Amino acid sequence: MSRSGKESSPARRIEALREEIRAHNHRYYVLDDPSIPDAEYDRLLRELEQLEAEHPELDDPDSPTHRVGARADEGFATVEHVVPMLSLANAFEDDEVAEFDRRIRELLDVESVTYTAEPKLDGLAISLRYEGGRLVRAATRGDGQAGEDVTGNVRTIRAIPLTLVGDELPDPLEVRGEVYMTRSGFRALNERLAAEDHKTFVNPRNAAAGSLRQLDPAVTADRPLRFFAYQALAEAGLGDNQSAVLERLREIGFPVSSLVRRVEGLDGLLAAYRDIGEARDALDFDIDGVVYKVEDFDRQQELGFVSRSPRWALARKFPAQEELTTLRAIDVQVGRTGKLTPVARLEPVFVGGVTVTNATLHNLDEIRRKDIRPGDAVIVRRAGDVIPEVVRALPEKRRSDLPEWQLPEHCPVCGSHVELVEGQADARCSGGLVCPAQRKRALEHFASRGAMDIEGLGTKIIAQLVERQRVDDPADLYSLDVETLAGLDRMGEKSAAKLVEAIARSKDVSLGRFLFALGIREVGEVGARNLARHFGGLDALMAADPEALEAVEDVGPIMAAHIHEFFSEQRNRAVVQRLLDAGVTPQAESAEPAGEQPLSGCSFVLTGSLSSMPRSEAKKRLQALGAKVTGSVSKNTRAVIVGDSPGSKLDKARELGVAVFDEDALAALLEGRLPEA
Ligand code: IVH
Repeated sequence: MSRSGKESSPARRIEALREEIRAHNHRYYVLDDPSIPDAEYDRLLRELEQLEAEHPELDDPDSPTHRVGARADEGFATVEHVVPMLSLANAFEDDEVAEFDRRIRELLDVESVTYTAEPKLDGLAISLRYEGGRLVRAATRGDGQAGEDVTGNVRTIRAIPLTLVGDELPDPLEVRGEVYMTRSGFRALNERLAAEDHKTFVNPRNAAAGSLRQLDPAVTADRPLRFFAYQALAEAGLGDNQSAVLERLREIGFPVSSLVRRVEGLDGLLAAYRDIGEARDALDFDIDGVVYKVEDFDRQQELGFVSRSPRWALARKFPAQEELTTLRAIDVQVGRTGKLTPVARLEPVFVGGVTVTNATLHNLDEIRRKDIRPGDAVIVRRAGDVIPEVVRALPEKRRSDLPEWQLPEHCPVCGSHVELVEGQADARCSGGLVCPAQRKRALEHFASRGAMDIEGLGTKIIAQLVERQRVDDPADLYSLDVETLAGLDRMGEKSAAKLVEAIARSKDVSLGRFLFALGIREVGEVGARNLARHFGGLDALMAADPEALEAVEDVGPIMAAHIHEFFSEQRNRAVVQRLLDAGVTPQAESAEPAGEQPLSGCSFVLTGSLSSMPRSEAKKRLQALGAKVTGSVSKNTRAVIVGDSPGSKLDKARELGVAVFDEDALAALLEGRLPEA
């Protein structure tokens, strides 16, 4: 497909471009295997458009540039279907499939039957008529006997060939299949419609139907519609059985779903349903079941029809993924971090194969945006393994006096006030120290290394203390005795005594660590230290208003708001007071760093266990001398200080050529002497 055609006659170049574009359409829509980028395709199309504009005498109604037909101002003409477009009998259970297979075997008087299993595409059926290899008419299903002529619109769907590929094609040829919209195209379309303040579509099927019934084909052309063929009318003689016909349809230019398979007997039917069901979520288009068809056309003929459905086919439907129910209430749950999450309590409804009574509403913003109210009729969706969700409310079904939903002012778990910070999507419980929902996490944080550093008070011990109601908040830790602790699982007399000691030791703490230990949102170790230095004492800090807080280095409006909210909750203040009463004495840090700072500007990493002191103490003492102590080795690290059985940090130091200090060197450091590397 060279561009040398440009030099030859316009007629030849135009024909070459038409062929090339058709071939790309085929690769893209039928083979699902595009060979050029979209931009290159667009360039070819533009070149052709330009040439055709310059040479109107070379026009051809089936040129790929003529995807847009005439407006249907008078509405759509009616088309009689010479062969009616039938519907399919439905089944929902394995039993019904077994019954279908049994009946067919009996009628045909055979042992086993071969079927095709095809995805049941969730779009709308369309019948396409080709004469002389060219698309001459497209009609919707309508009532099955007569539909609407939507040729102008269908011509804009690139997945549908305007001309067929190959010789000795049946003429005329009528092909039937499903027009649908991709899920990704549907989402993009809805986003676009919403941005332009237009009404959005509920699902891809409605979007496809709405797009196909546009009076102006230019609108249809702009919609991401696709097509899969699933049937050629019998007279066409494209083959003796369903799979052969589908294969032939693919060859002459129609997209056919790659999920179609040939199966044997009942086991094959049931396995295909499972396989296609498993593939479902990953598809970029909606399917709502599996269609079974007797493979052999002679056998189909023998079986014939009952009322308006073929006896040789069955639609095994997936359980519906969307159902209508009533929203009884919106409850609010409190997470470990204090985040409030709304949960929909529903009138039980069977959807996606299970009975659903709770569903997610995502977040508070979403409830407001979608105006969902307790008492509303709502659409609930459960797709695959995804958590059920409330998609939207149906305000048209709403009683006129139904009040809007209000966010509770108090935490449903602990009663502390609810905090809504400007610019933050989530509401939170402000009772960080007292809320049972946040209790374990608050205690874990309180005891952690960078905070009160209580050795031996880990997750498992905390969980037991909370569950046995020995500890409700951090202040309770300071009244624990050896006896109580020794009564916990996997805790001996000795370790209990050690833990009591560690708790007692933690009373002696810097103000910065103490502030960090309180677990105020957004307040990290550095922030806490800055606050401690700035205010010099707890009282001044607790009395500060947001403005005063924002004056501190690196404290922005959100952090200031969180600190202020925290201390305006009386329950938090009470816990702080009880901590002080228990003997915790946060030591003020002066604005000027205390003492000399001989190690300022030096950064160290500690690894392995030290014999002279716990690592946390070495860290504290190094920091007191102005050093930075970090967790990872970089080329900026002054030295890695190693104790017994050091980890990978030592390797890293060697790799980067960073100095390695032993405990003697550490001792020298702590006396303010920097050893030679
Ligand atoms: S065959 C006589 N195959 O399901 C058989 N139909 O209830 C005619 N459908 O209106 C239909 N995927 O829109 C057939 N692979 C498939 C299908 C399919 C979806 C739709 C079609 C039809 C409805 C039948």
